[in-house]
Amino acid sequence: MKTSAIKLLAALCLLALAVPQSKAEDNRKRDDSEINRILTGLRISPVGLNLRGKNIVLVGLGSYLVNAGGACNDCHTNPPFQEGGNPFQGQPEKINKEHFLAGGMMFGPFVSRNITPDANGLPAGLTYSQFKKAIRTGVDPDQLHPEISPLLQVMPWPIYGRLSDHDLRAIYEYLRSIPHAEPGAPAPAAARQTQ
Ligand code: HEC
Repeated sequence: MKTSAIKLLAALCLLALAVPQSKAEDNRKRDDSEINRILTGLRISPVGLNLRGKNIVLVGLGSYLVNAGGACNDCHTNPPFQEGGNPFQGQPEKINKEHFLAGGMMFGPFVSRNITPDANGLPAGLTYSQFKKAIRTGVDPDQLHPEISPLLQVMPWPIYGRLSDHDLRAIYEYLRSIPHAEPGAPAPAAARQTQ
C-alpha cells in the first residue's frame, strides 16, 4: 500500500513538472509558426507593398492567408497568371501582377470585384467594418444584383466567415497595402485553365 502511494505521489510530481514544460513547448511551436507565417506572407506577396502607416505583422499574416490559403487570386485576378506562367499548364507560375486582385472574372451573371484599394486607400471601397460584415454575413455591400440575391454569390464567404477577427483584420490590412489596379478585360472563369 505504502509503496504504491509513494509511486502515485512520484508520478503526480513528475506530471506536475512535465505539464508546464509541454505547455511552454506548445506555445513556442505556435509562436514559431505564427512568425513563419508572417515572414512567408511577406516573402510570397506577388506585388510590392506600401507599408506606410500599416502594421507589418498583420500585412504579413494577411498575405499568407490571401496568397497561401485564401486563393483570392484564382477568382479576383483576371487572368490569374501571365502569359507562359500558368501552373495548370505545367509552366513555372507567374502571377498577373498588373491586374492583381482587380476583379473582372465572370462566373455566369456574377463578376468578381476589384478588391484593391480605391483612391481613399479602402480595399474594394470598404471600411474594415463593412468588409468584415460582408465576409461574415455574405450580404453584398454594393447590392449589385438585388433581383438575383442580396447575398454575394460564388465568393466563398461561408468559409472565410469562420476566420477569426484577427485573421480578417490581417487580410484587410494586406489588401490595404497592395497597389491599386484596374481589372483585365472581363473573361469567363474557365479562361484561367485554358489560356
Ligand atoms: C471562387 C471565387 C472567389 C474566391 C476564391 C474569392 N472571391 Fe471574393 N468574390 C468573388 C465574386 C464572384 C464576387 C462578387 C459576387 C457577386 O457579385 O455576387 C466576390 C466579392 C468579394 C467581395 C465584395 C466586394 C465588394 O465590393 O463589395 C470581397 C470583399 C471579396 N470578394 C474578397 C475576397 C477575398 C479577400 C478573397 C480571398 C480570401 C476572395 N474574395 C476569394 C469570387 C471569389
